[in-house]
Amino acid sequence: MIQKFIYGAPIQTDAVTLDIPAESGFPAYGTVSTKEGFSFSYIMAGDDIVYGLGEANRGINKRGYCYISDCTDDPEHTEDKRSLYGAHNFIVIAGEQTFGMFFDYPARLTFDIGYTRMDTLTVSCENADLSLYVIHGDSPYDIVKQFRHIIGRSYIPPKFAFGFGQSRWGYKTKEDFRKVAEGYRKNNIPLDMIYMDIDYMDSYKDFTLGKEFEDFPGFVREMKGSHIRLIPIIDAGVKIEEGYDVYEEGVQNRYFCQRTDGSDFVAAVWPGDTHFPDFLNPDARKWFGDKYRFLTDQGIEGFWNDMNEPAIFYSKEGLDEAKELARQFADSGDGRWDGAGSVGVWQMGDKLRSLANSPEDYRRFYHNMNGKKVRHDKVHNLYGSNMTRAAGEAFERIDPDRRFLMFSRSSYVGMHRYGGVWTGDNKSWWSHLLLNLKMMPSLNMCGFLYTGADLGGFGSDTTRELLLRFLALGVFTPLMRNHAALGTREQECYQFEDIEDFRHVIGVRYRLLPYLYSEYMKAALNDDLYFKPLAFVYPKDKMAVRVENQLMLGNEIMIAPVYEQNGKGRYVYLPEEMKFIKFLPDGTSSEKILGQGVHYVDIALNEVPLFIRKGKCIPVVDAAECVDKIDMEHLQMLGYGGAEYLLYDDDGVHKDYDNKKNYRTLTNIILS
Ligand code: NOJ
Repeated sequence: MIQKFIYGAPIQTDAVTLDIPAESGFPAYGTVSTKEGFSFSYIMAGDDIVYGLGEANRGINKRGYCYISDCTDDPEHTEDKRSLYGAHNFIVIAGEQTFGMFFDYPARLTFDIGYTRMDTLTVSCENADLSLYVIHGDSPYDIVKQFRHIIGRSYIPPKFAFGFGQSRWGYKTKEDFRKVAEGYRKNNIPLDMIYMDIDYMDSYKDFTLGKEFEDFPGFVREMKGSHIRLIPIIDAGVKIEEGYDVYEEGVQNRYFCQRTDGSDFVAAVWPGDTHFPDFLNPDARKWFGDKYRFLTDQGIEGFWNDMNEPAIFYSKEGLDEAKELARQFADSGDGRWDGAGSVGVWQMGDKLRSLANSPEDYRRFYHNMNGKKVRHDKVHNLYGSNMTRAAGEAFERIDPDRRFLMFSRSSYVGMHRYGGVWTGDNKSWWSHLLLNLKMMPSLNMCGFLYTGADLGGFGSDTTRELLLRFLALGVFTPLMRNHAALGTREQECYQFEDIEDFRHVIGVRYRLLPYLYSEYMKAALNDDLYFKPLAFVYPKDKMAVRVENQLMLGNEIMIAPVYEQNGKGRYVYLPEEMKFIKFLPDGTSSEKILGQGVHYVDIALNEVPLFIRKGKCIPVVDAAECVDKIDMEHLQMLGYGGAEYLLYDDDGVHKDYDNKKNYRTLTNIILS
């Protein structure tokens, strides 16, 4: 049962697709105050758990910290950070009283979950203008499914997008891409996609191609000939340059975000000075979306949308202020570090550092939302979502029968209908491998099923060991992509010794692909979760409820990756008897039945582990070079003898999801 309460005059976010009549009054739980802004407070019982918040820092149980929904381009995901790229304002409180809440509010919103006081949950924001959904249900899992139902079906990518992809910021020429393709194909490491980062464009201008990419359709065909799709990046900012059509049209039609005086707001990003398309204006959204045709017409089938928080390196206003301060700083001579009486080194440094993504800049420009002028900070968290919506809506016009690959960096609930997300600029840190795992079920709860992190880590230098362990988790994440930052150690799989280990680990992804795809599709089509915390499957098991380093995947398996340097294995908790399967480097697999309880399992660096639940089985195939070459005719079954599995499969291209022919029951006839 879902109740909706409206406070003040909420800005329409389109997060919820189902029409729920609003009630007056207050939720049965906690206290709502609308006196100074909005706040909701609830006293948590000692063992209450708080789930949700999608792409957020720290644990699956969010209790014990403070999180701020404020889409932020911050590449340092250290433990102290409160805001990442997404704003997913859905939580479930599970314990003495169990209920869910969705705070549909498009600006900065704070979730203090036992941070100020260990027993108190407070959700607060500046303006008391929001829709609050309160969800009652039997269990957190039931509540999540109800929430998923009201926000609409999650995005479904084409099947090739379940293959493995290689990316790196810094590939510049056709030769760079050919080298990657060859590196994978020559070494027989499966690969389906190579991502094109900003250097494919002419001067970082969206919907252009650098002169290196003459006869682009020919190049796209050449790559597709080896079953590799090129996936270009699109950035939010449009370069200011006379004669550049996207810029000219945007200016002419007033499609860019404007300052109070009506002039187009200027922010510096990769191309230098840019304007931001007003994705919240339906006409501008349609216009920008149709620009993707420039690349789809040349054979491109997928994209990633970046810098759409939006990221701002500096604004003209901010820079002018910094220059003025610098003049005062220069005049202040060799004063003290704290600049007692004048401008000091620290103040100057702070000013320069705060130029990027400054809250002041987000107050300097406006959107045109159906004729209403709305200041950006009031709708900040909708910006990236609406960029991706622009693309998603355009794909429906470009080819309504076909699926396109699309994922975004910034997002708000609602965007999950148009695309997936990657979790942004993580680092080559072991702690980020675990963070990757913990974010997945929370993202699923908020509708984002097609998700994954930069495997190997984006910033800083990876190691062979870290990459292999990251990949062994990535085998299970719908988006499986190795991506690295400019200037970091090269981390394509063929750059390391004993390449066969990479061939094998990524090969396991392809061996499992029929199962992973089937579980993804069933989750998407039934508003269900692909990844679940153990607590959702074993709610009565007190130990299972505590586990934060293992996940349930689909209905049949549990995953427990190694996430520590020099780890030779790990402890794992089994809520029930399971079959422990290891995919071994020689292409075979080992299996062993383990009873309920805690076990230490050995997992070598070149092995991929999974656990099949008692009485279940899963299909596997032989590894293949790419998704197109997976042999679906020769499925083998792993798991418990006599068990049945309901397989979903389709052509992976079109949208004939509801066809009964897509389902078939498989039986594991081997009785063991
Ligand atoms: C920031 C993105 O998060 C990253 O993935 C990308 O490589 C750089 N922008 C450059 O485009």
